[in-house]
Amino acid sequence: MPGAHDQLSKYNKIEAFVKGFKLSTSSYKRVMHLLNQEMNQGLMRHSQPLADIKMFPTFVRSLPDGSEKGDFLALDLGGTNFRVLLVRLQGHDIDIQSKTYLIPQRIMLGTGTQLFDHIADCIGKFVRDHNLSGQTLPLGFTFSFPCKQEGLAKARLSKWTKGFRCEGVVGEDICQLLQEALKRRTNCSVEIVAIVNDAVGTLMSAAHVDRNCEIGLILGTGCNACYMETLENVQTWDEEKSHPDQVIINTEWGAFGDNGCLDFLRTEYDRELDTFSINPGRQIMEKMIGGMYMGEIVRLVLERLNMEGLLFRSVDNECDLFERGRFYTKYVSEIESDTDDFYHNTKQVLDEIGVENYTTEDCKIVKYVCTLISARAAFLAAAGLATLINRINKTDITIAVDGSLYRFHPRFHNLMCLKIQELVKPGIKFKLALSHDGSGKGAALTAAVSLRLRNTKVIPDTLPAMSELPVRIGIKQKA
Ligand code: GLC
Repeated sequence: MPGAHDQLSKYNKIEAFVKGFKLSTSSYKRVMHLLNQEMNQGLMRHSQPLADIKMFPTFVRSLPDGSEKGDFLALDLGGTNFRVLLVRLQGHDIDIQSKTYLIPQRIMLGTGTQLFDHIADCIGKFVRDHNLSGQTLPLGFTFSFPCKQEGLAKARLSKWTKGFRCEGVVGEDICQLLQEALKRRTNCSVEIVAIVNDAVGTLMSAAHVDRNCEIGLILGTGCNACYMETLENVQTWDEEKSHPDQVIINTEWGAFGDNGCLDFLRTEYDRELDTFSINPGRQIMEKMIGGMYMGEIVRLVLERLNMEGLLFRSVDNECDLFERGRFYTKYVSEIESDTDDFYHNTKQVLDEIGVENYTTEDCKIVKYVCTLISARAAFLAAAGLATLINRINKTDITIAVDGSLYRFHPRFHNLMCLKIQELVKPGIKFKLALSHDGSGKGAALTAAVSLRLRNTKVIPDTLPAMSELPVRIGIKQKA
């Protein structure tokens, strides 16, 4: 049995390998300062092309008011699954039927044609199965990748993120690719009315019931946020500046740090994860937070502790602990859900990845590592939110949140709230609200708001100059 002294020295050694995840409040304040600077770069015309944080204006300028009605198709593409939904809106009553289809990895890494053909096939099947053939349905598409929008239904992919790398899609108009594939593969008649990012869908969906909602946050496979910005601050907005003088900005803050400005807080594990990712040097902030990566950071630390003789006495070489990508973020949530010294979940995870001969102390160390890495992720996301909250500068603000990491991690919500409280200007009240099915419902709602506004006749406050005609409000759509 090791003595108390040996144990202390072992814990000190472990501490040396993980201390990089414990950041001070001043580090988080530095993150906020840098993020604010980088967001300004993304909003200014001269610096936007080279800015890491793209701050894309979305063409969504009005939030739902609860009067939206009608049947809509919605699509949701952004992770390993693709969903087709039929959303029936009747004011605040919403009925949703949906079906999830898998996107095989060969398609995620194949050609754009293969991807869009696969999507079109799934839509065709869904329309047939739901007896929707023969009617033209408006469609809202949640496409959760960075896009430069040129209209509400025109968005060019600026780069792939997360696990996707389909050839021939970057720079192309996603709606057009979908429309062409639908024509090639089906005889469905749909009108693509809106293409939105999942953060935007999440915000729209929550704003449907909460008027104070002005920020949308995704904590899932990836991490991103959007918020309502006044047009005056958006130099890159080339469209008319009529009422409402606001637009939702898709920040794409996952790319924060790609220019090296976050190097001061990255650990050796973050660097290793990045080197072996499919997009090295890209999405640096996302790689410290998102569910696609968090499990892998934990795995790298556990592997290191094992190699240093500080964790698990004997582990088989074949064990998943030594295989990249085999320690999933859902394990982190499960392990941290253990509340007593029996470590029921932790043991189950260790069994699953093939670690044999672990002790209760090993379980304690594994849980400790998970706690540090998820807390850093929650605090970084909180620093991002605090930056946006301070920017919007309203006294009462709701943040709509969605994503598997937020839903399933036992403490993410609380950790974020504590850190935001510490970082926002005094006197601001904020609330984090789970947005239910933002991606599905949000896309349909955006399409619905667009149709509602298309049919709205507006009497402007002041008569426009000839050059400003025609006057429209709200979400606008380019021909
Ligand atoms: C990635 C994508 C972004 C998306 C986020 C969450 O960061 O680039 O568009 O919102 O993941 O899914």
